[in-house]
Amino acid sequence: MSEARALTGLESLPARQRLIAALDFSTVREAETMVERLGDSVAFYKIGMELAYGGGLPFAKDLVAAGKRVFLDLKLHDIPTTVTKACANVARLGADFLTVHAYPQTMGAAMAGVAGTPLRLLAVTVMTSYDDQDLREAGYAFAVKDLVARRAEQARRAGIHGLILSAGEAKAMRAKFGPELILATPGIRPVGSETRDQKRAMTPAAARAAGADYLVVGRPITEANDPKAAAEAIVADIAGVDSE
Ligand code: C5P
Repeated sequence: MSEARALTGLESLPARQRLIAALDFSTVREAETMVERLGDSVAFYKIGMELAYGGGLPFAKDLVAAGKRVFLDLKLHDIPTTVTKACANVARLGADFLTVHAYPQTMGAAMAGVAGTPLRLLAVTVMTSYDDQDLREAGYAFAVKDLVARRAEQARRAGIHGLILSAGEAKAMRAKFGPELILATPGIRPVGSETRDQKRAMTPAAARAAGADYLVVGRPITEANDPKAAAEAIVADIAGVDSE
């Protein structure tokens, strides 16, 4: 285990801490109801743009005050001064993770904004809704896989703490960058659940085995008949890999 990883405690993190439940709701009321239903089964929540624009930022503070960990998936990207100041302000909310787009200027500015705070930055390399044709249309001369690799390397150079990536890419990135980067993977689908719009879904156990530190799970929990049982099953799946 590398020293950096040992210091962050990532290797020994309990399975429950590795599950991040996505609160993709438009109102705080719905999110609060879900958090109540989930109780102790979930320790870490993700608030994305939808909820952030519907009162999700004060709600993030409430979650932190209630002892939960919070991932703000705000995908920041602006001129450097604005990004630095925005990140410094987000750090005051007490969240653990914040996403920024993996542009070199943006990442450097974001790192300056969180310096000296416990907020960790995760870089979004290429949105998973983009394919090679979409990138060409947007003016890029790279295929998705080449742009992901390029931006991941730039993220590492900027000192970014981790990457958001699909579980299918986790193994290669772990091999390439070693243990120093936090890897968080959405697109998780427990055995038997619907894949819906996730095209490269993986089970919780497979994602953890591939090297993901954190698993972001939305609808398989929030749309389950029994969200708490769904969360517990995912935690058990992750724990099964960690105890091997
Ligand atoms: O409901 P589901 O499990 O598909 O939710 C996954 C969550 O992860 C959503 O909040 C979605 O915005 C987010 N996400 C994703 N793919 C990415 C980045 C984020 O699905 N590449």
